[in-house]
Amino acid sequence: MGNADRAAPAAAPRRTPAPFRRVLLVGFMGSGKSTVGAHLASRLGWPFLDFDEEIERRAGLSVAEIFRTRGEAAFRALESEVASELLRAEPAVLASGGGWAAREGRLEGLGPETLSVWLRVSASAALERAAGDPQARPLLQGSDAEARATRLVNERERYYQRARLHLDGENASPDALAETILRHLERTNPDVAGR
Ligand code: S3P
Repeated sequence: MGNADRAAPAAAPRRTPAPFRRVLLVGFMGSGKSTVGAHLASRLGWPFLDFDEEIERRAGLSVAEIFRTRGEAAFRALESEVASELLRAEPAVLASGGGWAAREGRLEGLGPETLSVWLRVSASAALERAAGDPQARPLLQGSDAEARATRLVNERERYYQRARLHLDGENASPDALAETILRHLERTNPDVAGR
């Protein structure tokens, strides 16, 4: 039997992954989720939605005021409610608050249409960035802020790691991070190429 007669093995069907319809940024306080998210959204021409901003709008109070007057548990309840609604928007770029992803089931529960991105930052960089706006982050205030930030980063990293894409949020600029996410999206979303 000549080579020509031999049936070529059937090529495995190539499955192109479905395009993403949403990008969700997660990571510790000060990792740049909101800044990178806003850059990315404007490059994509997609709406940008920020969990904390929506929480503040609904409560008519700042995050710090919610913590102070209603307590963290009330903030977390509002955060869950806002997140489940915002995570239905598409297309959209979303910035979560630093604590939202740090719970069992949160990132694992996202469907295939959501690209989750972890912007990784150390506790010391987070504290340094938070120092510019000391009122904004109640969990990074007080004399034990350093110890608390280190503990929270350590506790939360195992959850953040469940994001699909991990990026260095400490040394890269917001523009460069948005660009990396865009290039990543291009593989699944051909319409994104060239933006
Ligand atoms: C929090 C992070 C904050 C805000 C709240 C609690 C946290 O958002 O949601 O202060 O638990 O890490 P940013 O990550 O945008 O600062």
